[in-house]
Amino acid sequence: MKIVEWIAQKRDGGALSDGQISEIVTAYCRGSLPDYQMAALAMAIYFQGMKHDEVVSLTRHMLASGALFDWPGLERPLVDKHSTGGIGDKISIVLAPLLSAAGMAVPMISGRGLGATGGTLDKLESIPGFQVNLSMEQIRRQVDDTGCVIAGASDEIAPADRRLYALRDVTATVPSIPLITASILSKKLAEGLHALVFDVKTGSGAFMKSVDRAATLARSLVTVATELGVPSRALLTDMNQPTGKMVGNANEINEAVDVLQGGGPPDVRALTIELAVAVLTMLPGSNRPDPLALSRQLAGLLDGGAAMERFERMCQAQGANWTGPLPCAQRHAVIASEAGWIESINAEELGWIVIELKGGRTRLGDKLDHSTGIEVLARIGDRIERGQPLAMLICHNDDKGRVEQRLADAFQIGSQVVDVVPLIHAVIGGDNERQGTS
Ligand code: URA
Repeated sequence: MKIVEWIAQKRDGGALSDGQISEIVTAYCRGSLPDYQMAALAMAIYFQGMKHDEVVSLTRHMLASGALFDWPGLERPLVDKHSTGGIGDKISIVLAPLLSAAGMAVPMISGRGLGATGGTLDKLESIPGFQVNLSMEQIRRQVDDTGCVIAGASDEIAPADRRLYALRDVTATVPSIPLITASILSKKLAEGLHALVFDVKTGSGAFMKSVDRAATLARSLVTVATELGVPSRALLTDMNQPTGKMVGNANEINEAVDVLQGGGPPDVRALTIELAVAVLTMLPGSNRPDPLALSRQLAGLLDGGAAMERFERMCQAQGANWTGPLPCAQRHAVIASEAGWIESINAEELGWIVIELKGGRTRLGDKLDHSTGIEVLARIGDRIERGQPLAMLICHNDDKGRVEQRLADAFQIGSQVVDVVPLIHAVIGGDNERQGTS
């Protein structure tokens, strides 16, 4: 392998062949390609990008570096969702049981907190006893028995990504769309899915702050996944304010359960149903179900208790018992110092405040306090009077003073009426691509 020449080829804007990418991934997994050369290549990719065929090759070889699920005898269609992560994003916790209640099999591989955003696995661990570290065999059995599982990626899945992601993290090469695409898909496509939907977030609390960059990532994910045989679509969704009211761990689980019981904030319910409709209407062979009828049917599964019943079965299968709302820390109101309209919310700052309250990690292995968080009471466009609560800090009394002002400052109040932001900016992929829906 002439790796120095290949790094130079990429550095100078050339494309790598499928054979070259195969050799690179194999050598990196074997340990014969050292981290310093892989880091140089990742930086060359960061600056020069990759052509579509290169991203397909990289994804395929990273996927093949690990084990793939197979599902002998499973009759239900296999579907899943991937979110690029946002503040208060608890959609997976509602969506997996909902899709299971709709007759699907959902082997959802999820992650922990990343940057300011919380992780689905951390949130689920607020439920006493909930196990997220499952073997591939345990996942397979649970999907067979219960219809859904939410668990972490086991060591067997995409080892090339585990190694490369850790290297990117310390070499400032995470924000590269080709590398993100290959990283996400090398794990998701190991699930052996029939359809996949992406929730690509954009805004102040998202990894991708601009709509243009989020759309580029969404298109890359959709085209590569589709080329590798999994029908895919992406919803470009707004993350200029948290999803729902709750940000944290236990409080987010409680809010997700409200939605599973037919209540909860309208944005969480609407986005969950939109994502479910998007994935269900992509299933091969499905005779184009009417999206409106489908969303009514899904609403019925929330309102009638079928989705909640699946959630309870998932908890039991993963070692926990849902007995009612989880306990949270004390609540302290944070009030507006002026009247006006909520112009913007620094959603990322809300995530950092929760981390400060030990609801997220600053170091690998930090133990979390699941009881802390924030309840957001004001949304963009709301009229606010001086002295009205903007949010509730959910924290221990001693911690309130450290973050109270930061939380108040995260809300920008202006003197003009503000337009309400759309929940869904665009749908990418499929024949019903659209822009600017709310
Ligand atoms: N999440 C991933 O799994 N990979 C990335 O590269 C970025 C976010």
